[in-house]
Amino acid sequence: MSKDAYHPAPYHYDSTPYRRAGASGLLLPPISLGMWQNFGGDRDPRTLSHIVHRAFDLGVTHFDLANNYGPPAGSAEKQFGRILKRDLMPYRDEIIISTKAGFPMWEGPYGDGGSRKYLLASLDQSLKRLGLEYVDVFYHHREDPETPLEETMGALAHAVHTGKALYVGVSNYSPENTRHAARILNRMGVDLTLHQPSYSMFNRHIENGLLETATELGIGIAAFSPLQQGLLTNRYMSGVPQSSRAASSSPSLSVKQVNDPDYQHRVRGLTEIANARGQSLAQLALAWALRHPQVTTALVGASSTHQLEQNISTLKNMELSDDELTAIDEFAVDGTAAR
Ligand SMILES: NC(=O)c1ccc[n+]([C@@H]2O[C@H](COP(=O)([O-])OP(=O)(O)OC[C@H]3O[C@@H](n4cnc5c(N)ncnc54)[C@H](OP(=O)(O)O)[C@@H]3O)[C@@H](O)[C@H]2O)c1
Repeated sequence: MSKDAYHPAPYHYDSTPYRRAGASGLLLPPISLGMWQNFGGDRDPRTLSHIVHRAFDLGVTHFDLANNYGPPAGSAEKQFGRILKRDLMPYRDEIIISTKAGFPMWEGPYGDGGSRKYLLASLDQSLKRLGLEYVDVFYHHREDPETPLEETMGALAHAVHTGKALYVGVSNYSPENTRHAARILNRMGVDLTLHQPSYSMFNRHIENGLLETATELGIGIAAFSPLQQGLLTNRYMSGVPQSSRAASSSPSLSVKQVNDPDYQHRVRGLTEIANARGQSLAQLALAWALRHPQVTTALVGASSTHQLEQNISTLKNMELSDDELTAIDEFAVDGTAAR
């Protein structure tokens, strides 16, 4: 091993209260690292290594990917695959890696949707880019109303039966289709372990049925974009920084959203509540998303180790009083700064 090889910090598990995904045996850290838009081919590999090392040093054992994360699509899995190969393979059994398929990935009729053909080919491609024999979690990324759910769930079950995935999940599914998916998987001898929906103070749709469905089915929720892509942080308090997601060519966040007057008002109100607790807005937003026992983990993006460290410090102050929750409700309005 070379002298600059990565060695995890000692005692790095001690301060993390791992949470159980529903009724399964799977424990996840409350805050996990997602690689949607911060791990593309254009990002500096050294910065990415530092973020991943720091995450693992701080007890983050879960890394979330998808076939199409980048840009370009596939490059986030390649970037993470390089870090895994160089630094983390000795710790593979200490790490939960998820990937997904469901959005457009390659040309032609077999590179999108929920067919068995697409899902299983995509999983093989992901394993190759990651340099792995199996992923810990394989998700169907979004509903495909044109493919029978039996076929899509059959592909997930096949991934488990062939050892290419240990657990399976669905993402962006309605409560009703989640129940249907779980029933089909059960008939195939496989449990649905996770649902991955969006959830933040400005995007509260899971409060309308999905949380109850998770309890009923005994599945965990991995909540994505809990910081509303940076809108629930101090990133845009004084303008739009050049290096930010809103200033980039990302189609998912725009300067128009940042300039929305309702957004500006609500984010100031939430920041005051956070500051009164001795927290940053990002920390308050994460504690708030994690207040439900059904939310096993919050999938957070970070473009620097500083952001990541600040987010993980949330774990020091997670309790929210009833008065604080009532005060938050005034500003945590579903649909704020929607595109
Ligand atoms: N299943 C799905 O359909 C789906 C969809 C979207 C996301 N996801 C998953 O969820 C993960 C997280 O999504 P996301 O990146 O949108 O999450 P997010 O955590 O809501 O936003 C992350 C962005 O917020 C900013 N940020 C983070 N911490 C900060 C801090 N402490 N202070 C100031 N700014 C901070 C950074 O913006 P800058 O980059 O501007 O610095 C960062 O890139 C993804 O990586 C992916 O794994 C899943």
